[in-house]
Amino acid sequence: MAIIQNSKYLDFLSKLGIEGAHPGGINLTKEILKRENINRNSHILDVGCGTGQTAAYLAYKYGAKVTGIDINPTMVTKAERRMKKNSLPVKIIQGSVEKVPLPDYHFDFIISESVLSFVNKPRALKEIFRLLKNGGRFIAIEQTINKRLKEKEENEIKQFYGFDSLTMKKDWVALLEQAGFEQIRIQKNTSIDSAPGIPYSDTIEPELYEIMEKHFDIIFRYKGKLGYRIYSCTK
Ligand SMILES: C[S@@+](CC[C@H](N)C(=O)[O-])C[C@H]1O[C@@H](n2cnc3c(N)ncnc32)[C@H](O)[C@@H]1O
Repeated sequence: MAIIQNSKYLDFLSKLGIEGAHPGGINLTKEILKRENINRNSHILDVGCGTGQTAAYLAYKYGAKVTGIDINPTMVTKAERRMKKNSLPVKIIQGSVEKVPLPDYHFDFIISESVLSFVNKPRALKEIFRLLKNGGRFIAIEQTINKRLKEKEENEIKQFYGFDSLTMKKDWVALLEQAGFEQIRIQKNTSIDSAPGIPYSDTIEPELYEIMEKHFDIIFRYKGKLGYRIYSCTK
């Protein structure tokens, strides 16, 4: 059984059951996907798929053959429910991106939206590389710090989100290169809002509400320092 890391934030996300939970939201995802060569023959993997919003969109819009994997059983249940409700043939697996129970050279396209920061990055990237066909594409929307912060500040962020490290653009590039990826491109999105769409609800339990407040507090206090980038590359 895969081990779920200690992240108050991820726990909060799964309990809240939000639609999508990455910077830029589904609108950014749609923009990114438009630029890729995706069709009904594409085999696509969404790692850390959460409640399956992107995986569902890929199946619905492109008719692609989509698989989603997530470590959190609550997320998996919600993703499965979404696919069933919308009659979408998306396969959802419970497991870790660090060890995916699927064969080598299986996918044309893999997407990771706000996931790699929460896991062992070299291990996950090695798996993603293994799973891609030669010439396959990998896109990641990931947290990126614009400069190193004070140790105390970095610790606060790492502890709250359960990150093992805070990653700058050059660190992500080095990690992608180490995994074997080529043609690495980085995009800084400015036109689409960076906050994930967390709905307000009167029914949020007080403990979850505190976590949500802390999340927005961190985003506000580290504005300009803690951002995200879109990384795209090829195997
Ligand atoms: C911030 S959420 C993003 C979810 C989804 N990609 C989205 O954009 O809505 C991070 C997701 O990564 C999942 N996750 C964390 N560690 C993982 C791992 N080792 N393997 C697979 N999924 C993982 C969490 O359960 C959670 O669903």
